[in-house]
Amino acid sequence: MSGIIDELLQRIADFHRSRPVVPEYPMVAPVLEALDEARSPALVEARHLPVLRHLDAVRLSGDEAVDAVLEEFLSLAPALPWIQTAGYRGVLSQEFHDNYGYVQLIGPKSIVEHRSVRVGIAVWGPNLHYPSHHHEAEELYHVLAGQPSFSSEGVCRITKPGDAVHHEPWQPHQQDFGATPTVLLYCWAGAVVADATLT
Ligand SMILES: [Fe+2]
Repeated sequence: MSGIIDELLQRIADFHRSRPVVPEYPMVAPVLEALDEARSPALVEARHLPVLRHLDAVRLSGDEAVDAVLEEFLSLAPALPWIQTAGYRGVLSQEFHDNYGYVQLIGPKSIVEHRSVRVGIAVWGPNLHYPSHHHEAEELYHVLAGQPSFSSEGVCRITKPGDAVHHEPWQPHQQDFGATPTVLLYCWAGAVVADATLT
């Protein structure tokens, strides 16, 4: 029997292999290794969050590689364990918590256990602001849906589906999400055990 997220992990690996930007980032090599080796359980215990109500408004991008990941994720979403960063509870607003969440596919205490790589998909509702935060792990985001703005070190960039955004370890970054729901694919490599913290 195949695992519940095996197809999604394969599509994420294929996605990374299809992107021209990926060879610029050596961190993708251990991520691809983790994706290729991962075997997920047949079933996981679903856990829902309020952010799931935004998924009906997520639109496919027209980019075949992006949509292959997005379609599989959207079809699995109700069956997956949605989580939030524990350290943000009581720190970020209730509005923020009512409008964001993610599924960690690979990583510490995730669907597939891993101690040096994280791979997941995160969703934010319209017009939220994610204040400046950082983490020891190196990070590569790909936008799957929405038009989030990423700001770091005085540079602001508005992105669209298919765009990649890279952060070095401890590089502070903040996001402003657009008028439609944002879906981001994230990969962390290196020191992935500690969560992000606000700066
Ligand atoms: Fe980050």
